[in-house]
Amino acid sequence: MARIAVLTSGGDAPGMNAALRAILRVATQQGASVVGVENGYEGLIGGRFRSLEPRDLDEAGHTGGTLLGSARSERFRHKAGRQAAAAHLADFDGLIVIGGNGSLTGALALAVEQPVPVAGLPASIDNDIGGTALAIGVDTALNTIVDACDRISDTARAHRRAFVVEVMGRECGYLAMAGGVAAGADAVVFREQGRSEEVLTERLLSAIVRGFATGKRRFLAIKAEGVAVPTHALVERLQAGLGPELQGVTVRGTVLGHLIRGGNPSYQDRMIAGRLGNTAVRALLGGQSGFMAAWQPQGGTGEPTSDPSVRLLPLPLVLRETARLLDGTSPVTRRRLRMMSEVEGILAL
Ligand code: F6P
Repeated sequence: MARIAVLTSGGDAPGMNAALRAILRVATQQGASVVGVENGYEGLIGGRFRSLEPRDLDEAGHTGGTLLGSARSERFRHKAGRQAAAAHLADFDGLIVIGGNGSLTGALALAVEQPVPVAGLPASIDNDIGGTALAIGVDTALNTIVDACDRISDTARAHRRAFVVEVMGRECGYLAMAGGVAAGADAVVFREQGRSEEVLTERLLSAIVRGFATGKRRFLAIKAEGVAVPTHALVERLQAGLGPELQGVTVRGTVLGHLIRGGNPSYQDRMIAGRLGNTAVRALLGGQSGFMAAWQPQGGTGEPTSDPSVRLLPLPLVLRETARLLDGTSPVTRRRLRMMSEVEGILAL
């Protein structure tokens, strides 16, 4: 009987459990068994395994976090750590890694350095993984952002306030961009705009002045975590910069932080997680290795699978695309920037 190991690694993302559930069910139906690795690559190094039966995950699909636990493993970055992990993999016929950029980098290193086939599933609320239209967790995080902004807008209108709401996304401003548009924000600021603190503050100030002058009762700016100026410092600068014409208008800041990463996964995250998991198990059992199952609902360039919206991409390609997404040279980043500069004036109306 084939044995597949599965681990979740890096920042958890809503939908990781739905992916685990799908992997377990599809593998079982295909006559394979699944063993969970606890706490990501740290658990693989330490040989911390937990065998999984379909009943174990009956209730898991609708929950956030990860039942297996997760970690960011420093030891796994080094060859000695990976060798220790590989020794524990020897009894398996495949490994599925569910995680983001760092986790998929680790998956590729393992695929190259040892013989057991390795597959990746993209999971990161940041949506910073190349080759996949969405990563597991992004949709839920965006729903949480929109809900939080709606609530903040209620109280902001009551007091005629300007709010800066910071959302996660270490190096990638996608959550700020998409969340800002969906929440009806008045401004969106993110690292990729490349604006200095001065420029950013000036633009926000003039947008706030214009907004309240035209009768707005709330001004909402969504700020990505990756913008260098801390939210509390930006709030202070904005408050200090408001002229006498805006007497009585106060500026507040809210950092949503890890709130965005928790919660039950949305329909879309459960569906994507299930379909990526299904495809990854089948490809792994079919003898493929070193790939990521990517969500490409519009079709794409990867190897087609039996699911029209899922493609297999080689991990080196995924990681190259990811690097370009983050350094701004990817057409995807350029497109996002173009779209955001187009909507900037519309949001501010
Ligand atoms: O990668 C996902 C993410 O949530 C980022 O948006 C954020 O910067 C980071 O993880 C936070 O990591 P930690 O939970 O280790 O503080």
